[in-house]
Amino acid sequence: MDSRRVLSLKVYETVKTLLFVYVVFKQSLKAKRHLRARGIITSFREFYTWIAQHVIMLALRLPAAQRKVRTEMDKAKLDIEKQLVPQGTDVTRHLTLPEEGQTPEWILAEMDKMDKEKSTASWKLGKLSGAVYHGGDDLERVIVAAYAKYMVSNPLHPDVFPAVRKMEAEIVAMTLRLYNNPNGAGTMTSGGTESIIMSVKTHRDWARAVKGITEPEIIIPASAHAAFDKGGAYLKVKVHSIPVDPYTRKVDLKAVKRAINGNTIMIVGSTINFPDGNQDDIEGLGKLAAKYKIGLHVDCCLGSFIVPYLEKAGLSGGVGGKYKLAPFDFRVTGVTAISCDTHKYGFAPKGSSVIMYRDSDLRRYQYYVNPDWTGGVYASPSLSGSRPGAIIAGTWAAMQYMGSNGYLESCRSIVECTRKIADSIVADIPELYILGSPPASVVAFGSKHPKVNVLEVGDKMSKLGWHLNALTNPAAVHIACTRLTIKMVDQFIADLKDAVQDAKLKPSGEGTMVAVYGLGNSSAVGPAMVGQLATAFLDTLYKA
Ligand SMILES: *Cc1c(COP(=O)(O)O)cnc(C)c1O
Ligand SMILES: *[C@@H]1O[C@H](CO)[C@@H](O)[C@H](O)[C@H]1NC(C)=O
Repeated sequence: MDSRRVLSLKVYETVKTLLFVYVVFKQSLKAKRHLRARGIITSFREFYTWIAQHVIMLALRLPAAQRKVRTEMDKAKLDIEKQLVPQGTDVTRHLTLPEEGQTPEWILAEMDKMDKEKSTASWKLGKLSGAVYHGGDDLERVIVAAYAKYMVSNPLHPDVFPAVRKMEAEIVAMTLRLYNNPNGAGTMTSGGTESIIMSVKTHRDWARAVKGITEPEIIIPASAHAAFDKGGAYLKVKVHSIPVDPYTRKVDLKAVKRAINGNTIMIVGSTINFPDGNQDDIEGLGKLAAKYKIGLHVDCCLGSFIVPYLEKAGLSGGVGGKYKLAPFDFRVTGVTAISCDTHKYGFAPKGSSVIMYRDSDLRRYQYYVNPDWTGGVYASPSLSGSRPGAIIAGTWAAMQYMGSNGYLESCRSIVECTRKIADSIVADIPELYILGSPPASVVAFGSKHPKVNVLEVGDKMSKLGWHLNALTNPAAVHIACTRLTIKMVDQFIADLKDAVQDAKLKPSGEGTMVAVYGLGNSSAVGPAMVGQLATAFLDTLYKA
């Protein structure tokens, strides 16, 4: 062999070895980061669960097991269908277009009929958690009028609809001032989920441009909204979920710090979180964000127009430290983004939220711009292209109608209602405990009595007409108080007392909460089954 050939072979071998070393190094770095973020015990548990799930899934492929699973699943699917889809031969199903258009009278009459076909108790009774945040006739009229006026408008065409552009800019400006960042920037979106997904995208693209991060990761509290996981899944961003303190329900700052690495683009805190209504330590998270030069998103989707008014309402200090609200807005160093749902306690029509950034430089990373499109230069601020200007007009109208004093008053009455529930549980229902010390409008309760399953309590409350939410880890039930809850608060407390006694003496184990959430916990394969059920639920939504 001539020496050149030997040389090129040697080079080839060296490159191969280097490549191998590089790949091994990259993978072990990844593993090390993962271990560091999740901890050894959690990583082992994750690994064990993964193995167990796969073994059971394999076992379930056996024909006999499959038959059994299929019968059980079919039964569950039928149950879901019975609950959601009107049954019977007298139900008219509109599966094809009518040959000739129908009259307006026919259309409204048909809607009335549909409301009656699925006659679950009306939301107007106020026996529900969240869902409808205002529901007053006066505000409804104002919103409908605004909606009608801008019915056909679309902010994608600001030249055609200048008023809609102005109103959107003003909604963002008003919300920024509410969160103490008059010089900041933001956009409207279709809801909290879109606001959060946009923030993940903005921080991802910012970190790629400024820090060269190509394998982005975010760190969220276990109590953060699922929209962050959804954003991570959509945008290929790895999500580390950090446990919260079992007593305060605030995210464990030491564990957040441990999870931060060179790929971290953003950390997250809530004010307040959805599951139990508690607030994370935003100042502590802010210090970490500033130190490591990464983003900090504060999720105020639910806190929306309540948390900015707590201090003014004289309700942020708490009694003996109880229900205390700590700083959370742009005045806290390190906060780079805040999401605020105008369609929750802002009382705007559904499909309305604001995502805010510390400055307009950061907001630019949210935009999508395509100068080369055949259809012309295309530029849009958020996920949607065309957007309903009517929702913007409805939001603007709601904010003008309420005014600062209106929101202050709604904050006071809603939060007082929430605290009445929390205080009554502590004082009069010894079987239950409150999760953390929730400062605003949501309160969650678990059971500390061995004979009381709190999910059973939730099911008994359903029988009494209440629509509440079940939580896992730990099992608990929550209520997000709204304007509608205020007049129902005494009824709620009385019903809860009855439900607890009933659950203690006559547990049935048959309600939806017990069935679904018990299943999730019953075995390693539980979550996969619940996943299948949830998929079946989504299928059922499209059953005409
Ligand atoms: C409601 C909520 C969201 C987003 O929800 P949407 O249904 O998309 O508006 C995000 N975070 C928290 C804490 C929420 O309560
Ligand atoms: C599931 O199990 C965990 C750990 O055993 C427990 O802490 C949690 O409360 C359970 N959740 C439900 C919904 O039963």
